[in-house]
Amino acid sequence: MTTASAPGKIILFGEHAVVSGTAAIGGAIDLRATVHVQDEPGRVLITAEDLTLRGFSFDLTTGRIQSAQAAHAIRYVSAVLREFDARDMQISIKSSLPLAAGLGSSACIVVAAVAAVSRHQGHSLSRKEIAEISYRLEKMVQQGLGSPMDTALATYGGYLQIAQDIQPLDLPLLDMVVGYTGTPHDTKSEVEKVQNLRKRYSDLVGPIFQAIGAISQRAIPLIKEGNAAELGQLMNINHGLLASLGVSSRELEELVFAARGAGGALGAKLTGAGGGGCIIALPGRAGPEALLVAIRQARGMAFKVVTGCEGLRLEEV
Ligand code: MEV
Repeated sequence: MTTASAPGKIILFGEHAVVSGTAAIGGAIDLRATVHVQDEPGRVLITAEDLTLRGFSFDLTTGRIQSAQAAHAIRYVSAVLREFDARDMQISIKSSLPLAAGLGSSACIVVAAVAAVSRHQGHSLSRKEIAEISYRLEKMVQQGLGSPMDTALATYGGYLQIAQDIQPLDLPLLDMVVGYTGTPHDTKSEVEKVQNLRKRYSDLVGPIFQAIGAISQRAIPLIKEGNAAELGQLMNINHGLLASLGVSSRELEELVFAARGAGGALGAKLTGAGGGGCIIALPGRAGPEALLVAIRQARGMAFKVVTGCEGLRLEEV
């Protein structure tokens, strides 16, 4: 049996402006997807379970009821199985990440599946090869959409700075709380919306992008020094700039204000493309527990996460 697991991710700073070339910072989080592969002579079987069931679908050909998340995971794993011409195996997928929430759920499933299936077949792919194949497959399933950041974070873990290229950042672990609105996000339409705004108001949006890029650069030494108070300020400013670009929503604002208010967060912002999806909040003196309670009271799903954690992990039994 071969098992691989890979982490999801959050964007700490810089989303949207990064599309026009300024810096963004992403971090791997300790919510992971795990893929097990074992021999199953004569068949290729995929099973999927998840911790965040939301809706289900019924497959007429197999007669099986699947959750929407399981169906989503299966689409990505099928692409991996085709890539490796896999036979005679059973693949089981488990994930603790909510689907389409902007936390990189598809990237970590693809990375874990590429690593587990290739190793089970006797290949020894480098991390670079795994990241490259996974990026290509994720983009193919998403019909051309996707940035290399999610698959790179799922593979290498830690923190990455994304600008024209992707660079690892040597930064300490950071405790954060993620709040999920329960509304799936649509990266493509949010990116198009912001890019249209940039075309129409380039003299206004250009400086907003510059300010967002400057926030990413300033944040790096603050994370290194553990200067949580200032980091929180930067999160709040970054959120305000993103809201000015039109990518916040009522649900996101409710979670941000619950986090900063009753949750006692030092800072809170939306993470990823916006429009739905998640916020991240930096715990204050009241700690992460107060944040979890405040976000749940505001009707969000809340997760305590460690940012900057380990990437792809492979185990053979
Ligand atoms: C989405 O996770 C992050 C965006 O900046 C888009 C991208 O970088 O591809 C909104």
